[in-house]
Amino acid sequence: MVRPASPALTRVRVLATGGTIAGAQTDGARGYKAAAFSVEALIAAVPHLGEVAQLDVEQIAAIGSQDMNEATWLRLATRTSAALADANLAGVVITHGTDTMEETAFFLNLVVHSEKPVVLVGAMRPATAISADGPMNLYNAVAVATHPEAHGRGVLVVANDEIHFAREVAKTNTTQVGTFRATARGLAGLVNAGRVHFFSAPVRRHTAQSEFSVDGASTLSRVEIVYAYAGMGRELIDAAVKAGARGLVIAGVGDGNLGALALAAAAEAADAGVAVVRSSRTGGGVVERNIEIDDDQLGLIVADELNPQKARVLLMLGLARTRDVRALQKMFFAY
Ligand code: SIN
Repeated sequence: MVRPASPALTRVRVLATGGTIAGAQTDGARGYKAAAFSVEALIAAVPHLGEVAQLDVEQIAAIGSQDMNEATWLRLATRTSAALADANLAGVVITHGTDTMEETAFFLNLVVHSEKPVVLVGAMRPATAISADGPMNLYNAVAVATHPEAHGRGVLVVANDEIHFAREVAKTNTTQVGTFRATARGLAGLVNAGRVHFFSAPVRRHTAQSEFSVDGASTLSRVEIVYAYAGMGRELIDAAVKAGARGLVIAGVGDGNLGALALAAAAEAADAGVAVVRSSRTGGGVVERNIEIDDDQLGLIVADELNPQKARVLLMLGLARTRDVRALQKMFFAY
């Protein structure tokens, strides 16, 4: 049962996709199954949530976010945009597994054209765990979605009393509740038991100013990520191209580098019309053009600050607009 709320309260739509926030333990204190509880059950477990907003709900999926895919992204984008077009709704909260939350958040940050708040929320501990973090995270997410200062900040992620920008946030720890970090540019703000404090504004184009659209789309371009390492050969890059990738993101060593054999394969792929983006496996910093690798000569693109999984999202959307390497590079400096 969704807790009743005063009709005078701000309205927020909760779109549920599953994740550990909806998880139930199966094996003592450790094993659990993600996406076991409905969104109604999650809301019913949060005291006083009905005093923050009037909620209506839609179960979009019931999955662990390792199973998130482009079909569900497209559906989420459609349902989020539809909710935000409703003048009676203040914003949208999306419950989601933490594993791929940063990818979904960044995808929506690029394709939802609204200034209204969109807040993704998850939990590191299942709903039945000792000290489950989901209820407070959900309470805080709804509070952020109703806050006037959340407008125009792009898609946000709320967890562990922190508010993060979709572009900046990354999951950095396998199990700890403070897993989300934005090492390069810091927090969007804090939220303390529903009290919201914003510190900064997003630095790049997003939502209402984004050029990307998935209206009417049923698929996105195939983009694969290839992880670089000492002694890497060319086989994985060749295999990705052979499998039909239209784009490749290299999780390069250091400043997006890769050894001679792999670099030759990447250059051949670029020459054959595959968009090749150099990101970094380091988890921080900017991948610069033309440092140890001559990107101009080889026709390569750099990811700027985006980690490999977010570079993949931008490239999937960019390839729907252009295959021109210079135009794609500009997108990586703009978003
Ligand atoms: C998932 O991403 O669905 C599992 C992990 C989590 O939600 O924390």
